[in-house]
Amino acid sequence: MERQSPYRDLQDNPPDTQIVGREIVTFDVIDSTNTHGLRHGRDGMVIVADRQTAGRGRLGHTWHSAPGLGLWFTVVFEDKGDGLPFAAPLAVRDALAERCTLRVKWPNDLLLQNGKKVCGILLERRNDITVLGIGLNVHHARDDFPPELQDKAGSLESELGGAWDRCEILRDILTQLDGKVMLIRDQGVEPLRAPWAEACGIIGRKIQCGKHTGTVVNIDSHGALILNTGGGDQIIHSGVITYLDGD
Ligand code: BTN
Repeated sequence: MERQSPYRDLQDNPPDTQIVGREIVTFDVIDSTNTHGLRHGRDGMVIVADRQTAGRGRLGHTWHSAPGLGLWFTVVFEDKGDGLPFAAPLAVRDALAERCTLRVKWPNDLLLQNGKKVCGILLERRNDITVLGIGLNVHHARDDFPPELQDKAGSLESELGGAWDRCEILRDILTQLDGKVMLIRDQGVEPLRAPWAEACGIIGRKIQCGKHTGTVVNIDSHGALILNTGGGDQIIHSGVITYLDGD
């Protein structure tokens, strides 16, 4: 029997948005929704899959994307994607705000109060197409994660319990994201920079990122950290940070 897509309702009743979700395509299985977006995307298109066979994470990592467990999707933009590093984590946080409190770990991971990562975001650009890939762990049990991730990653269900509907969550994220993208297209990235920096709570913190250690003195308009290392300022564009002054 043909299994119905968990996202069928979204296609039948598209979200009330202006840009994000103008077109929604669903797959049972795909290599990576980001790859599909880079090849075939158009402005505002959303690609969502129940399973990815070659899901990509930041810094060359694999993103485990088993069927039935998570929300794996990409939104395509036909521009350089300015402001998306700020808009995307805030959109996910705000979409879930009535049900849980998420904090942003620079640059755009979303963590639960207990520090477990539930959502990762991967922005990629090719020519004039930017793809915003979001992976949200929804129904995983602890054992569904590979052993090396079991203490670091969690899902909404494993950490918070209760019933979660991927289609409803996706609708709420797309709606939130659309509002923020409209704001960027209207007013630029500045209105989102301070809320994002505050959500990250990183200014003034002592961190380590790769071989650099120092205190974060500011965040630039691209979301890069300006780190006072004691021997001058260092700009950190990407990487994995560790807090040296507590969690
Ligand atoms: C990270 O490493 O934290 C980013 C993970 C991003 C995963 C999402 S799932 C949907 C989209 N397609 C991909 O191949 N990756 C992103």
